Amino acid sequence: MSIIPEKYAGPALAVVATAIALVIVRKKWGSRNLPYPPGPKGHPIIGNLFDFPENPICEGFARIAKEYDTDILHLDVMGSHLVVLSNSDVATDILERRSVIYADRPRMPMVNELMGCSWSFSLMPYGNTWRIHRKLFHRFFNVSVADQFDDKIHKAVNVFLHRLSESPERFLKHAHFLTGSLTLSVAYGLNVESESDKFYSASEDAMSAVDIALVSGAFLVGALPILKYVPEWFPGAGFKRFARIAKDNLDHSANLPFQHVKESLQAGAMTASSFAATCLEELPELSKGGVDEEAIRGTASAIKSFFLAATLHPEVVRLAQQELDQVFGGVRLPDLSDKPQLPYISAVVKEVLRWRPPTPFASGSVHRLTEDDTYKGLFIPAGATIMDNTWATFRNESAYPDAHAFKPDRFLKDGQIDPEVKDPERLLFGWGRRICPGRHFVLRLLFLTVARTLATFDISKCLDGDGNPIVPDGKTLLELFRNPSQPLPFKSDIKLRSTHALSLIEGY
Ligand code: HEM
Repeated sequence: MSIIPEKYAGPALAVVATAIALVIVRKKWGSRNLPYPPGPKGHPIIGNLFDFPENPICEGFARIAKEYDTDILHLDVMGSHLVVLSNSDVATDILERRSVIYADRPRMPMVNELMGCSWSFSLMPYGNTWRIHRKLFHRFFNVSVADQFDDKIHKAVNVFLHRLSESPERFLKHAHFLTGSLTLSVAYGLNVESESDKFYSASEDAMSAVDIALVSGAFLVGALPILKYVPEWFPGAGFKRFARIAKDNLDHSANLPFQHVKESLQAGAMTASSFAATCLEELPELSKGGVDEEAIRGTASAIKSFFLAATLHPEVVRLAQQELDQVFGGVRLPDLSDKPQLPYISAVVKEVLRWRPPTPFASGSVHRLTEDDTYKGLFIPAGATIMDNTWATFRNESAYPDAHAFKPDRFLKDGQIDPEVKDPERLLFGWGRRICPGRHFVLRLLFLTVARTLATFDISKCLDGDGNPIVPDGKTLLELFRNPSQPLPFKSDIKLRSTHALSLIEGY
């Protein structure tokens, strides 16, 4: 029997319902009483759609953040909240310390749904399937086993030096080949010997597909997923045609080597020593075992940026070679275990990564907040997309005075790496549960490439017909949506330092 007389039941129910509603609304109000992070005001319905910066967007976001004097910028793109961080302390507080609620990825209709990359675990939503992949990747790439690829890295860098000695003018192609072939070796256990190798060319085509995914038109479909249903012929729907071609290339580049590994394992022609082979054994239904094309692209971009910096800065080449000559006296080439003795080389690598951060807005680095959050009196709603603008972080003048200049010395104090200077190797690879698991591998590869290249080659500006130096303009693939770092082709005069340098290369 009810304790409330029947005639009061209606009003009582209304009071209870109102109370419950108030609790819910108060909770919302409680949070919403706090403002969103600063940002342009926006218009009804479309929000800040027209405030979305032009390419390169990392510079654009940095500019807007400066205008609003904030390290945590908020935009509302047709009801979707976007928060862009441009300070590593804020990124640490939010993406690292509160990682558990920031570890999801947003829905990415262009890359996942139209281009079919949902198998790539860097793009997966936070959850069980992601967790299983992450564990497996961790097993292969974590710091305690980081040296397991050292033989492969040493070998690949030596092939690179050989190729450089044979055709130095093709240095940008060689940088691509170094990262592409090494990745195929690590990921699939493949031994790629030439650029015409079918696995290598498939991966090159896929890289162009990634470029396509990064064109700015593609972003709109991210903000408004319904656009994915627009037919290809519709004005402005060029991204759909791009996505179709990209999907074919990406499928081909992932399926071809994976299939090869599968068949080789079945035929007993391969042991389960590669990442893909292990995936096949442990996750046969879940994975293609590949490594993200964006990862390969980012690594190649860093090597190209190193060549650009060396071409523009003869003083850096001289100081690096002085250090190398002092330590090795031309007796042997540096290897990975020599890092502690080569602080200047380490500083060059850090400065390359800071000066031209590879893939600062890779799709695999965007986070999604799963619960309402507040930070320093600001409200960040659940579902918000969070981007870490490393480009802006690395242009912060108080952390890096004269931030636009290439100055490896900024990382040195009394001839050693200065722990007080914020380390790009720490800040570049993302945060929390999603931090790049390939970072130890990449950093080892970059260090060895820079050290051995400078030990054996001189890098300087080419001369024009009148003997004047040709200064590379340092332009980058600005038409790309997220990556302002990948240098456009440029000329560099790369010569063996001596015949002895060649014999050192050949001795390995
Ligand atoms: C210079 C080269 C590279 C850069 C700058 C880079 C940077 C990043 C960044 C910023 C993220 C996102 C982290 C986050 O969400 O907070 C990431 C994720 C990832 N990276 Fe890298 N990366 C590079 C190369 C590589 C390589 C060579 C591999 C593989 C061997 C790799 C494997 C991955 C994977 C699997 C993820 C996804 C992790 C997850 O979602 O849990 N990366 N990387």
